[in-house]
Amino acid sequence: MAYLLIPLYLSAGRGHWGSLFGCGITPSCSWLRSYTSSMPPHTTRTKPSQIPAWSKDDLQSDLHGRSDKARRVQEMFASIAPSYDSNNRIHSFGLDRLWRRRVVKFMSPVEGLDVIDVACGTGDLSEAFERAGARSVLGIDFTPEMLDIARVRAQRARRERIEYREGDAMALELDDASGDLVSIAFGIRNVASPEQALAEFRRVLRPGGRLVVLEFSEPRNPFIRWGHDLYCTQLMPRTAAFLARDRSGAYRYLPKSVSSFMGREQLVSAMKDAGFKDVLQIPMTFGVCVAYIGRA
Ligand SMILES: C[S@@+](CC[C@H](N)C(=O)[O-])C[C@H]1O[C@@H](n2cnc3c(N)ncnc32)[C@H](O)[C@@H]1O
Repeated sequence: MAYLLIPLYLSAGRGHWGSLFGCGITPSCSWLRSYTSSMPPHTTRTKPSQIPAWSKDDLQSDLHGRSDKARRVQEMFASIAPSYDSNNRIHSFGLDRLWRRRVVKFMSPVEGLDVIDVACGTGDLSEAFERAGARSVLGIDFTPEMLDIARVRAQRARRERIEYREGDAMALELDDASGDLVSIAFGIRNVASPEQALAEFRRVLRPGGRLVVLEFSEPRNPFIRWGHDLYCTQLMPRTAAFLARDRSGAYRYLPKSVSSFMGREQLVSAMKDAGFKDVLQIPMTFGVCVAYIGRA
């Protein structure tokens, strides 16, 4: 029954989002104000293309080594933005929210901290940090269509301590040592150079500040892994693409980008190489998702 109602809900939602796009909220603390005034206004919208961001052939290539990865990732998220939240809830069976809540718990207490949530998308994790009492949350993402939705959500829920800005994880327009906590949820895998992004996170953190990376992984238990692979490569890409009316190839890209991305130990090493100390990894839900935490 839910599967019959969801497409109706999504199609009704499209026009709705469109009419609400473009809202903004005012930063409530000085470092956010100085940052926002130094940024150019975000105006670029990627025109949804009829050509898939990821064709079947592209997905056979080295996804993470492609020189056009950033452009394709941006096109893909622009195209799925309107249904991103619904698809997340449905296809993770609500676990995505639980994982983000757990991340906030791992990082608690966050009261009084300045949080920089990179690749914030539609703002789930940014909102969770604000709810937990962060002094300010700056959400940064390079896809305007995702940020449009994040802004609408923040305005509706009167989350006045969150500011959303367009920006690139690999070249953050922030001063050195400007935040206490940097987070990136389901974003590092999509960044063209994760090493460069990690170095940026280290640069913008105050001494002793913390980084949390939340990312999908492949379960280590062979049986769970088999079921997980089946779900991610056969079922989910079909239902998700149907619900999102997606032609970008986003839901075929997802499992492929997870299986070909760095493994858990490699990500830990990359964080250490970027200068993070006391790096630890916390697997969740049989290792489908892992939180990596490090200290600047
Ligand atoms: C899977 S979404 C995750 C969104 C959000 N963090 C969440 O938990 O739902 C990945 C996001 O990363 C963003 N992204 C990818 N590469 C980026 C980059 N180089 N700089 C900024 N954002 C980037 C995309 O635009 C997209 O919104």
